[in-house]
Amino acid sequence: MANIEQDKDWSRRQFLIRTGTVAAAGAASPLLKLADASPWKGVSKSPNDKLVIGLVGCGGMGAANMRNLMEFPDVEVAALCDVDDNRVPKDFADVEKKYGRKPDVYKDYRHILERKDIDAIIVGTPDHWHALVLIHACEAGKDAYCEKPISHNIVEAVSMAEAVKQHKRVVQCGTWQRSTKEFTDAIDYIRSGKLGKITLCRAWINDSFRAGRQKPTTPPKGLDYDMWVGPAAFLPYQSNRCHWNWRWFMNFGGGLSTDWGVHMMDIALLGMSKDQDLVMPTSVSAFGGQRAILDDDRTAPDVMDAIYDFKDQNFSMHWSIGQDHPGKETHGTEFVSADGRTLRVWRGGWKILDPSGKELPKEEAAAPPNHWRDFVDCVKTRSKPRADLGSVAQTTIVCHLSNVALESGEMVKWDAKKHDLVGKAGKNTLSYRRPYRKGYRLPEYRPSA
Ligand SMILES: NC(=O)c1ccc[n+]([C@@H]2O[C@H](COP(=O)([O-])OP(=O)(O)OC[C@H]3O[C@@H](n4cnc5c(N)ncnc54)[C@H](O)[C@@H]3O)[C@@H](O)[C@H]2O)c1
Repeated sequence: MANIEQDKDWSRRQFLIRTGTVAAAGAASPLLKLADASPWKGVSKSPNDKLVIGLVGCGGMGAANMRNLMEFPDVEVAALCDVDDNRVPKDFADVEKKYGRKPDVYKDYRHILERKDIDAIIVGTPDHWHALVLIHACEAGKDAYCEKPISHNIVEAVSMAEAVKQHKRVVQCGTWQRSTKEFTDAIDYIRSGKLGKITLCRAWINDSFRAGRQKPTTPPKGLDYDMWVGPAAFLPYQSNRCHWNWRWFMNFGGGLSTDWGVHMMDIALLGMSKDQDLVMPTSVSAFGGQRAILDDDRTAPDVMDAIYDFKDQNFSMHWSIGQDHPGKETHGTEFVSADGRTLRVWRGGWKILDPSGKELPKEEAAAPPNHWRDFVDCVKTRSKPRADLGSVAQTTIVCHLSNVALESGEMVKWDAKKHDLVGKAGKNTLSYRRPYRKGYRLPEYRPSA
């Protein structure tokens, strides 16, 4: 384990050999054995035992997830990891106070994965690191709470879903809207058929974020910027594309199509599906780009209209990023029925409108369980959580497809059975597959047909 920090070769085999989970290169399926020995599958843990977790990425959402999990008496935080010393541990005094001991602090997440006492991790890094951290966690036999969008591109999403499946891990994703009442009420209502046949779904987000203009500077002391960049293409440090701001740069994120699309289109897809196994589009076209926010460093589109055709289910979906969506919340999802009724849902409420805009009566269902409690319970019972990674991979792929269509300028087609684009259209885009920086390699998993 010594010298992990010096070791910049992140290839899967190197990692596994070093951590001792593979006895010899090429040994037969040792990883599956590891996953089968999951604590709550065997005899070593009881339902009352604590779920011991480590946080990877101690920024805004990683820390928020950790604190939500700390609400539960059967959870303990044992380790924190961030590539920036400035983010740990100054804001984490409450962790020590609660558990009576300082959590161990690391700069390299592989130290957490090596620890036998840690059952699960939170993946709270920027999007461009999710795939490596999550797949390595699966290979090390850890369960995970993984932030959304699950990946930086389509090939990563497919690999992550397959790794979770093959290693039999329980992974809840950060699409917590799946566990809030306005969204579950709306989904239940659509699934009940009471709005009639749905012909169109709409999802949208407002975008007016400016990253501003900056010149590269020396990274702040304590931040291992080279590791922060990780597998992405190297760009010199600028604070307006590092912490939090990375989401406006396609080199590190997917812009609002993935950042918010994964929340809002997720609701449309869930409403149109029977369960978590989501309906998938057959073709996608997208138009837009950087049209409104000029003289700015950001590279993510600020205007986008994408049309998805769900030929097999006979409806279409419209995704839009814009500066305004008059008369509506800044974000939301709508279902439009063949008779002109519309169900609109957003964070904080939902309503049903008749074709003239008059509000119609609605029906409420039981409240869903707490999203983070659901994760803990599912780890212990080895069940699928409400935002199971396999399902959120489907939503994430749908989001990436709009970026693939925009980047390629082509109408792209999706083959849900093959988990891949049809033909060549879109395949040369970075939203489909990104080359990793030298020294990093995506452990690629392909589903069997
Ligand atoms: N579910 C939600 O509603 C929601 C809301 C906000 C953000 N998010 C998601 O949460 C994730 C984090 O977003 P954020 O806004 O907190 O970003 P952030 O930039 O504030 O925090 C990310 C942290 O990860 C650290 N990091 C980077 N690479 C690392 C590595 N290899 N190992 C350990 N730490 C590393 C960074 O130094 C930083 O402290 C993103 O995927 C984002 O999309 C989800």
